Amino acid sequence: MAKFTLLFLLLTLLSMATSTPTSFITSSCSTTPYPTLCVESLSVYATTIQQDPHQLVQTALSLSLNKTQSTKGFVTMCNTFKNLKPIEYAALHDCAEEISDSVNRLSRSLNELKLCKINGQDFNWHISNVETWVSSALTDETTCGEGFGAKALDGRIKASIKSRMVNVAKFTSNALSLIDQYAAKHMEGMNL
Ligand SMILES: *[C@@H]1O[C@H](CO)[C@@H](O)[C@H](O)[C@H]1NC(C)=O
Repeated sequence: MAKFTLLFLLLTLLSMATSTPTSFITSSCSTTPYPTLCVESLSVYATTIQQDPHQLVQTALSLSLNKTQSTKGFVTMCNTFKNLKPIEYAALHDCAEEISDSVNRLSRSLNELKLCKINGQDFNWHISNVETWVSSALTDETTCGEGFGAKALDGRIKASIKSRMVNVAKFTSNALSLIDQYAAKHMEGMNL
């Protein structure tokens, strides 16, 4: 009997432990441009995120960086394809450069974000750097996708790169939105 009670208690605690972070994630994601994607992609990390706004933002940014990095790998691979039109090689080359910039900016942002954890005067400086760099990274990703929208390009390469860029940009714009939210909350706290 005691064993069952204990088991029941454990299960209750376990379900509480998994549902609380999810509601935190859900409410934080509700104001992002792609809330469903935001909740789905971040819920996997619910136990790490808990209800920590910093951890939430760090995970979202790390996710965006990882997605961008793997897209960079794909673009680089496409660049090795034979028998493409010169205009396709040119678009791939530009895209590879843009996505490379994007990876660098996101990775710098992730390091800068870590500095925000130390509260005080410097928070605003670090978070505004993060906002600037992530927003440039998003521009790079969008530009790359648009480069492949050109009429001169058609076929499978265009379609798969475009859809990958659109997808990766969704992760980055969600991360940016959560970063803005985090920065705004912190400002509010300072003014109280
Ligand atoms: C991103 O990739 C790094 C390195 O592989 C890994 O440590 C990290 O957990 C990944 N981030 C997410 C949010 O999965």
